Amino acid sequence: MNKINTAVLVSGGGTNLQAIIDREKSGGLPHVKLALVLSSQENAYALERAKNAGIPAFAFSKKKLGSQAAFEAALIGKLEEYGVELLVLAGFLSILSADFTKRYERRIINIHPALIPSFCGEGYYGLKVHEAALARGVKITGATVHFVNEIPDGGEIIAQKAVRIYSGDTPEKLQKRVMKQAEWKLLPAALEKVAAELADS
Ligand code: GAR
Repeated sequence: MNKINTAVLVSGGGTNLQAIIDREKSGGLPHVKLALVLSSQENAYALERAKNAGIPAFAFSKKKLGSQAAFEAALIGKLEEYGVELLVLAGFLSILSADFTKRYERRIINIHPALIPSFCGEGYYGLKVHEAALARGVKITGATVHFVNEIPDGGEIIAQKAVRIYSGDTPEKLQKRVMKQAEWKLLPAALEKVAAELADS
């Protein structure tokens, strides 16, 4: 089977990365080779998860590198070194430039913890998304996997899953439910679908 060299880009806890690792281990990602993990935060717990799974992992600090261009050049250096063909943004909280997204057109996917086009775009990440959903009083939220282009959360939608909101929900409770019921299933499934299409193309 032709496997697609895949990098997972992270910034935090890495539970979505873990869901991908677990799915790969159980044979659920036949078209995916987890080749590399890149983090925008040097202290991200996701880096531990990568190491525990034996996946090469590196962190780059935009602050230390001094600019977006230098940060992206560092990412591209590693992506090329490892022959990466497909990128998964799994809680990667740094916005990528149009030059970067064009370079990997239809080869970057992202998980967003809401039903796009609700509660998305610049400034909507992590718990903030769930705070906004609760503040607006919606009764249904969910998660979306989409291709990444130059517009934050603006690329073509690949998959979505709805999740109910209950009275008494806190942002933390809702985040956990969206992860459990939607993100951790949706992202590995969408990744396999996109990798299979690339492998067949
Ligand atoms: C996830 O809920 C992911 O959907 C979200 O950050 C969290 C990362 O958790 N991403 C965004 O908000 C992107 N706009 P994780 O590090 O445990 O996977």
